Amino acid sequence: MYKIAIIPGDGIGVDVTKEAVKVLELFKEKKKIPVELNFFDYGAEKYLATGISMPDEQIEEFKQKYHAIFIGALGDPRIPDMAHARDILLGTRFKLDLFVNYRPVRLIDPKLCPLKDKTIEDVNFVVFRENTEGMYVGVGGHLKKNSDEEVAIQTSVNTYKGVERIIKYAFEFAKEHGLNKVTMSDKSNALRFEGDLWQRVFASVGKEYPDIESQHLFIDALVMQLVKRPEQFQVIVTSNMFGDIVTDLGGQLQGGLGIAASGNLAPGRVSMFEPVHGSAPKYAGKNIANPIAAILSVQLLLEYLDFTDEGKLIANAVCVAVGSDKTTRDLGGNLGTEEAGDFICEQISLNL
Ligand code: NAD
Ligand code: IPM
Ligand code: MN
Repeated sequence: MYKIAIIPGDGIGVDVTKEAVKVLELFKEKKKIPVELNFFDYGAEKYLATGISMPDEQIEEFKQKYHAIFIGALGDPRIPDMAHARDILLGTRFKLDLFVNYRPVRLIDPKLCPLKDKTIEDVNFVVFRENTEGMYVGVGGHLKKNSDEEVAIQTSVNTYKGVERIIKYAFEFAKEHGLNKVTMSDKSNALRFEGDLWQRVFASVGKEYPDIESQHLFIDALVMQLVKRPEQFQVIVTSNMFGDIVTDLGGQLQGGLGIAASGNLAPGRVSMFEPVHGSAPKYAGKNIANPIAAILSVQLLLEYLDFTDEGKLIANAVCVAVGSDKTTRDLGGNLGTEEAGDFICEQISLNL
């Protein structure tokens, strides 16, 4: 029995999680994938009412008893400093040591790409974002806060071990998938110390994979090339902050954040899956949000648990939905969130 924790979270996270859960329930009922879904109400509402964001004992329970976690999205305008979201989202990533943020960028249909004349082969790469270090560690502080001499310091932490494991993961992924190029991106021309570490580790790990080309691009050049010639990329590996930015751009190359899926992985241990997008408060509860990013995150979750065929069924159903414009309005269709989710479920059912 696979135990899966479901955290719908805030805003459209709630709307899209309902559709993702429909897909999981469908497999559970029809194909008898042995999953147990348990729902958790961590999010803005709970935090405002009780002060509870994400208890350490909960993280411990996930670690001990669960195989996967699904999160919808977090973020609420009533909590402008994102205190609860940091605990829930970053807390899950950090405390479960989910060091691989796996964000595939795959164009499903050329009509969704904002770039001219790009085929589905042209926009097809994966980004590995380091997920436990960098600017996100929360090291820093204020001095003389709220005075005209205020100082704010935010430190980027990069360990040899942390940089090495994400770069190795990227090369291993390339090797397993028959890909022959890995691109590492940093800002070593300005950020000397972390840049020097990333450069050395990339060169050293790259030597272990003589059949795979190692390419380096500064992050500013990378984003330029992603728009100019995305077809040159297969596997991109980068730090936490740069990976965050690059994957919103990648999401848009696929047709928007409504489509971009992700996995936060700790190989062999409980891992977390979520759409790349946020809680989009202005669309919350209005049956407008695109559920595809959440549903494709379920695909990644099932693949992680080795249900590869079921994952393919999801991907194919999404292709049919996009191909026949049975989609939400961000993709040019006229369906609501629920109807778009239902259509995908029907397509999956046809092949079950
Ligand atoms: P967002 O991703 O929530 O929304 C940005 C825009 O993208 C939306 O206005 C909408 O036009 C589009 N969009 C996003 N998801 C969509 C979907 N499923 N269907 C259709 N269109 C979609 O980013 P934001 O507005 O910068 O952030 C809103 C809140 O979400 C903030 O509190 C932010 O911190 C948080 N956030 C959370 C996560 C997460 O939980 N993983 C990720 C990003 C942002
Ligand atoms: C993402 C989000 C988060 C991040 C925010 C909400 C902290 O933007 O998952 O891409 O920066 O990692
Ligand atoms: Mn982001």
